[in-house]
Amino acid sequence: MEPTKVGVAPLLDLSKYPQAQAFVARCCEFFDEVKDLTPGAPLEARLNRDYGPGNPYYEDFCKFIRAGLGEGWAATAELDGPKYRRSRIVAPSAETHFISITTVYMDSQEEYRGQYHAHPYGEINCVVQIDESAELKGMQGWQGAGWTCPGPGTHHYPEVRGGALVALFFLPAGRISYAAKPGDPQPHCL
Ligand SMILES: [Fe+2]
Repeated sequence: MEPTKVGVAPLLDLSKYPQAQAFVARCCEFFDEVKDLTPGAPLEARLNRDYGPGNPYYEDFCKFIRAGLGEGWAATAELDGPKYRRSRIVAPSAETHFISITTVYMDSQEEYRGQYHAHPYGEINCVVQIDESAELKGMQGWQGAGWTCPGPGTHHYPEVRGGALVALFFLPAGRISYAAKPGDPQPHCL
């Protein structure tokens, strides 16, 4: 059976999880800082320079997501057994500067690929390591602790290696598409 597409997946019931509410509030503070920035390679470099490990936002996001895995609100819906799971945390709204929040847990030592997708307006993706050796593949290559930030119109497989991580991703306007196919042309800016 085809896994559920993120746009129609059920939303988390935030009222049940105070920690998830605090997490969303923290995300909104971060969005206030990045809401006018456009995803792509330059923003990826900037996020890794200014918001990488040691940055209070990055550390809080990791702390909340690890707690959420234990509390059962981060990445609960199985897409391919327990090794590939997702939670839709919030849809875009005025409160989030019209950015959506989604979490995807992936766990594989070997390279493992999820659902091919495109981001019409790009994607800001925080890599939350569960295993220290885990890496997520972005448009610029493999990324451990830190960020990937594919530009508008890019498409790819979410891909993990080296263990378990959570891809915490923020989508401008919540836009994601499953119409792109591997081999389709990429935009000139990745
Ligand atoms: Fe993506």
